[in-house]
Amino acid sequence: MTDSVRLEDRVVIVTGAGGGLGRAHALLFAQHGAKVLVNDLGGSTHGEGASASAADRVVAQIRDAGGTAVANHDSVTDGQRIVEQALDEFGRVDVLVNNAGILRDKTFHKMEDADWGQVYQVHVEGAYKLTRAAWPHLREQNFGRVIFTSSTSGIYGNFGQANYGMAKLGLYGLTRTLALEGRKHGILVNAIAPTGGTRMTEGLIPPQVFEQLKPELISPLVVYLGSAQCEDTGQLFEVGGGWIGKTRWERSLGVGFDPQAGFSVEDVAANWAQIGDFEGALHPRDSLEALGQMMANLQKVRQ
Ligand SMILES: NC(=O)c1ccc[n+]([C@@H]2O[C@H](COP(=O)([O-])OP(=O)(O)OC[C@H]3O[C@@H](n4cnc5c(N)ncnc54)[C@H](O)[C@@H]3O)[C@@H](O)[C@H]2O)c1
Repeated sequence: MTDSVRLEDRVVIVTGAGGGLGRAHALLFAQHGAKVLVNDLGGSTHGEGASASAADRVVAQIRDAGGTAVANHDSVTDGQRIVEQALDEFGRVDVLVNNAGILRDKTFHKMEDADWGQVYQVHVEGAYKLTRAAWPHLREQNFGRVIFTSSTSGIYGNFGQANYGMAKLGLYGLTRTLALEGRKHGILVNAIAPTGGTRMTEGLIPPQVFEQLKPELISPLVVYLGSAQCEDTGQLFEVGGGWIGKTRWERSLGVGFDPQAGFSVEDVAANWAQIGDFEGALHPRDSLEALGQMMANLQKVRQ
């Protein structure tokens, strides 16, 4: 039997928490005792407009249930202001859930700079600004939990989402390096790739399935990743519909050519099947481990 996961005295910032997944995360963090800063700009899925009501409603719901929360209506691209408000209101910040997001779906052929740029701004720049502003505080207190919201669109690709997929896999890249830099300071950094029935996915998922993909089925993982109990870092989880799995890179054993004698285009062609053969594949955990086979290939020549 596991101890109950409590977050009393922890201050959690959830961005984009006025609706959808972020709202469910904020409510569950509050239920587990955390003080929650509920951020939401309150614009459309396409990133247009703004309204204070979304975040305010979630704060009212948390307070009605006896929890502690304040609203923030800044854009995540002004992440510094969000962190400042958490410090002003609660005196500290412990957990960041980078969740705010928009979509500007178009095939690459039709994509305009604004579609590319706005998606980058909200997902990547916004997550950077918030996390960068909180980082010194997390380091100083030797405790932090950072959760980035990635997507299967980034991991696997999705038609019409070149901008979004780029941003979402970029966040996993950020996760991997911040996990390395944060570890010795007690800061653990993980990413989730959720699937949930929200306004973002309405119309894209068949209605019966949409109903079942409740945002609340994602939040227990997020609260766990935000808790002191969680000891994992640099990991990526796919989650939705009550299911959670872990995703990792896989690489084939590959083919080692003679690095001194060199090799030809024809050698590449002749070995193509083996280069892509995943039999006995490896799962490098870091860059050093990833270089292992390359270094072994160089070693073969020296011997
Ligand atoms: N729903 C899914 O199946 C799914 C799949 C993969 C990834 N995601 C990601 O999960 C996150 C939450 O998405 P959702 O499905 O709940 O969508 P949603 O549209 O319901 O929620 C996103 C929230 O972010 C807010 N927001 C947008 N731009 C903002 C900004 N600049 N500053 C502050 N707040 C801003 C919106 O107002 C909205 O409330 C997003 O990052 C999304 O890309 C969702």
